Amino acid sequence: MPTIRLLSPRLANQIAAGEVVERPASIVKELVENALDAGARRVDVEVEQGGVKLIRVRDDGSGIAEGDLPLALSRHATSKIASLDDLEAVASLGFRGEALASISSVSRLTLTSRTEDQEAASRVEAEGRDMDARITPAAHPVGTTVEVRDLFFNTPARRKFLRTEKTEFNHLEENIRRQALSRFDTGFTLRHNQKVVQNLRPATSALDKERRIGSLCGQKFIDNAVVIDAEATGLRLWGWVALPTFSRSQADLQYFFVNGRVIRDRLVAHAVRQAYRDVLYNNRHPAFVLYLEVDPANVDVNVHPTKHEVRFRDGRLVHDFIFRTLHKALADVRPDDHFRGAVAQSFDREASAPGEVPAAGTGQPVHQLQPWNGQPAMPPSGDDRAADGFSGQPVPQQEWRASDQMAFYQSLGGGGVATQQEPAAFPGTAAGAMPEAQPGPAPVAGGSEEPPLGYAIAQLHGIYILAQTSAGMIVVDMHAAHERITYERMKLALAEQDLKSQPLLVPVSLAVSQKEAALAETHGDELQQLGLQVERIGPETLAVRQMPALLRGADTEQLVRDVLSDLIEHGQSDRVEAVTHELLGTMACHGSVRANHQLTIPEMNSLLRDMEATERSGQCNHGRPTWTLVTLAELDKLFLRGR
Ligand SMILES: Nc1ncnc2c1ncn2[C@@H]1O[C@H](COP(=O)(O)OP(=O)(O)OP(=O)(O)O)[C@@H](O)[C@H]1O
Ligand SMILES: [Mg+2]
Repeated sequence: MPTIRLLSPRLANQIAAGEVVERPASIVKELVENALDAGARRVDVEVEQGGVKLIRVRDDGSGIAEGDLPLALSRHATSKIASLDDLEAVASLGFRGEALASISSVSRLTLTSRTEDQEAASRVEAEGRDMDARITPAAHPVGTTVEVRDLFFNTPARRKFLRTEKTEFNHLEENIRRQALSRFDTGFTLRHNQKVVQNLRPATSALDKERRIGSLCGQKFIDNAVVIDAEATGLRLWGWVALPTFSRSQADLQYFFVNGRVIRDRLVAHAVRQAYRDVLYNNRHPAFVLYLEVDPANVDVNVHPTKHEVRFRDGRLVHDFIFRTLHKALADVRPDDHFRGAVAQSFDREASAPGEVPAAGTGQPVHQLQPWNGQPAMPPSGDDRAADGFSGQPVPQQEWRASDQMAFYQSLGGGGVATQQEPAAFPGTAAGAMPEAQPGPAPVAGGSEEPPLGYAIAQLHGIYILAQTSAGMIVVDMHAAHERITYERMKLALAEQDLKSQPLLVPVSLAVSQKEAALAETHGDELQQLGLQVERIGPETLAVRQMPALLRGADTEQLVRDVLSDLIEHGQSDRVEAVTHELLGTMACHGSVRANHQLTIPEMNSLLRDMEATERSGQCNHGRPTWTLVTLAELDKLFLRGR
């Protein structure tokens, strides 16, 4: 039997370092968190060779008293909590009391600090297997500087996992970005190999904050973002979410903070995805910078050593709150919001004043020039047009059969949908599929009651509607716009009539786990509400007896499995709704005005008025914009015409 020995402090710390010190970026994270916990108003980060050679973090925070210095580098020593109660309501970023000990066991670390009460500063470093603290006098203003050199010099195996200088620096910079987004009131600088890479002044006003976001996330993001600020039962969610027309091919512009801590959380991700579901293509990703504020007692941050995960006491409440807030904000974006922003902007530009941002926190876009900047948010694949049916090629979407149409109308109680005169409008040409064309109001441009999208004056190439407003010219993609209107109406009709359930001729039996079977049993009522009748017929067997009529022909087994796995993971499921909406989307696409369909002026005006009244009308069902504004100022510029 090998004998049991106590590990040396250094080895114990090196083992602990395995969890939190992965690369230079993780060191910067820990050091900046310490600076922020110390109340720093300014944090300067300097690195060399991607942080492998040197990381120096200097702050103007409270500093550490000389007597405490030896403890700062020892493991399980912290000033941030003292009891389990403290841990359960912890508001600081750190609390484990091991970051510095871990880092100093795998690098050459010195910490220099001075408090307000002290005449002079002191420096501490840990030495040897026992990590004894050696303290020497030093010069330093009030605050702390931690210097970390030669990362992993004594742990060659870890060093091998480091990537190129550029990659390491990218990670490090991304980390600074997150921290700078988490504390607007603190100034940050970042220097790499003696070059200033980031210099952010403290941001207090709304405009300053948006500037900071613009320089960290790109001006385009903030130009296309909607301000969110909502509160409910002890929760507050605020921040910026990009309009669906500013979507990304990767989930690389998504920042979610819980009480100032950036986190990755499946529940949050799910809630956000669900909120965008209706306005984004599946393979596109929304962009957002969001802050959730929760009573610290209702969220457990002690889940993982890196603290990137949290556990909510009432996850379902948090999920619903995030979903509802974002869903509403996205649905509320209307042409007149864009329009107001656009007018404010064009006036600003004419007066060439810096321009204040329109009232934040109202869910309105901030200095929104136009929802669409001419750059395709979608990858410019030739499929887009085809998917819209413009090319005259077969639409590469789910086939829509006559029997499905019938099922759909039956599921609505046979009443049909207000926008559709005849079921026969599907899936052929769109004759008769326009909304009832009420004659639009007299086209008097510039009137005091002018509608946000103005009045139609012409149709271009059978694809676009040109409209005139006092601000300039509006161009509408009529198929995209009509598709959204049809879709939203179908959803409304469907919601009002509830989901009709239809018995399956042959029940589908399903082999599941005991857990899933039990779940289906206890959630029978909820499943019924979704139009699903599922019965447990054995310890590990379910029988599906009824399906929503609209989804007849869908993959029953897959649907039920997905619903059950949602229930397990999120305590609820929106699968039926998701699949139903997908189907409605396909129908809406087929049932909407096609290219080369000539509309009369009253029909065009009627479409514009419908857009103004419809939720999410700024994007078609695929997340592409439905309209854009060219301001008079922009037209003037084209013709070098001064005003
Ligand atoms: N920049 C700083 N300014 C003031 N005090 C600091 C600073 N950095 C560290 N300290 C002090 O040193 C202690 C140890 O820091 P360390 O990062 O190791 O642990 P922690 O922050 O308490 O917890 P965690 O391991 O979760 O980060 C802190 O509790 C704090 O009192
Ligand atoms: Mg810490």
